[in-house]
Amino acid sequence: MIIQGIPLFFILSSFFSLFLQTFGGDVKPRPELYIPNYKIYHNLSSLNKEITRLVAQNPNYIHLNEKYLSRNKASQFVLHLKNFSQSDRTQQTLSSPKQKVLLSFGEHAREFFPVESALYFLKNITAGLTKPATSAQYKFSRTIFSNLEIFIIVLANPDGRHYIEKTKNYCWRGTSIGVDLDRNFDWNFGGKGSSSKPFDEEYRGHSSLSEPECAPYVELTQQHHFEAFVSFHSGIRQIFIPFADSLSAKEKRLPDNADVQLHLAKRIAHASSQPFQFGVGYVLNPYPADGTIYDYMHGVRKIPFSLTIELWGEGDSEENQCFDLFNPTSEKLQGALDDVMPIFESLLTFLIEWKDLKTHQYYHNLEQPEFGLPRSYMVPMVAVSMLLLVIFHRHLPASLSFRGYQRRRVVSLRSLSSTFAVGSSVKIT
Ligand SMILES: *[C@@H]1O[C@H](CO)[C@@H](O)[C@H](O)[C@H]1NC(C)=O
Ligand SMILES: *[C@@H]1O[C@H](CO)[C@@H](O)[C@H](O)[C@H]1NC(C)=O
Ligand SMILES: *[C@@H]1O[C@H](CO)[C@@H](O)[C@H](O)[C@H]1NC(C)=O
Ligand SMILES: [Zn+2]
Repeated sequence: MIIQGIPLFFILSSFFSLFLQTFGGDVKPRPELYIPNYKIYHNLSSLNKEITRLVAQNPNYIHLNEKYLSRNKASQFVLHLKNFSQSDRTQQTLSSPKQKVLLSFGEHAREFFPVESALYFLKNITAGLTKPATSAQYKFSRTIFSNLEIFIIVLANPDGRHYIEKTKNYCWRGTSIGVDLDRNFDWNFGGKGSSSKPFDEEYRGHSSLSEPECAPYVELTQQHHFEAFVSFHSGIRQIFIPFADSLSAKEKRLPDNADVQLHLAKRIAHASSQPFQFGVGYVLNPYPADGTIYDYMHGVRKIPFSLTIELWGEGDSEENQCFDLFNPTSEKLQGALDDVMPIFESLLTFLIEWKDLKTHQYYHNLEQPEFGLPRSYMVPMVAVSMLLLVIFHRHLPASLSFRGYQRRRVVSLRSLSSTFAVGSSVKIT
């Protein structure tokens, strides 16, 4: 019976996995060749310790908002970075109030790297405060705290991370109930660039903003006026400006300030020693993503700069499993973190310069911004880049083509971009 049962099991399970592949979006664990070394990568408990230590050691510069919890009541580690020893009165009499920035990490459970980069940035900026006043490190930290107030959601989806630690399923992307947080927001929610099926890794949830994990995004943007929002991911090296949703793709909709947002994206792309692609979400990626956080932040919350940055990716290969598709190996973590520090630096310095430029323009009544291209160039530019993308795609070797992943993968990694991993949209013809 047992011997007969084995082939039957295999037939049934391959049939079942074929079924799931055809319909996309299975999130079954796969045998991992590479798993993280928790002496190098943080796990939930060491992450908690590290953040507690950073907050305790820098009471005048970092506050932890303990109110923001996941469905299973784990902290999302929402931090507020500000020079708290400056009284609000001093703040008000400052010639220019500080710009507010919201950064989000750890929305997708399997993307450990962005969370590590958040911690690395926090350590860098706080270590800078302890350096001699004449050092470049101190000056950088001082520039940040003198000009900006930064809110950081360090681990948007702690339940997903808990699930990975418990099950060793390093392919898991969703929350405790499998919702893709980056499809749960109120911007073209329910469109075809997401899934209504709970087993799909792009499951959008039963209604927009249904997940408790959305609370810091919604509430912080109600309480504060942000100049910039960035959602950090990994899986590839790309920088997107809005929009990513299927309706915008269809209507060729662009943000009103697409030129300056592209200018920022370009600055960031060129700051890194690694090659980064940048562009409008639906142009850069052939698949739509509906209900994303960064589209919501720009489209609904009207935050002028709203980006998704995919920080790391080395390309797909047959050998790679989930962990190493989305994260550098433990030995390569430090180098990869050093590679992305200039991204944080260029993002924040741009925003400070941008503010200075706007203030300057206000006082001098300048009409044309010096940044970016005039708007009239935008539509032809997008058209040309779409055309190039189509041509480029045709010429990609089959092994590199996005379409090449479609049926090979157990997990629906049809596009390496973790933001855009396509769920149930495979056409069955
Ligand atoms: C988390 O990592 C630490 C090392 O930093 C290790 O001592 C601990 O056992 C790990 N915890 C779990 C639950 O794996
Ligand atoms: C912070 O990162 C920058 C850029 O990588 C580096 O030059 C600087 O030394 C770091 N500062 C500290 C205090 O480690
Ligand atoms: C923070 O504010 C205090 C009080 O105004 C000031 O003395 C200190 O230098 C500020 N820290 C930084 C890093 O700018
Ligand atoms: Zn992601």
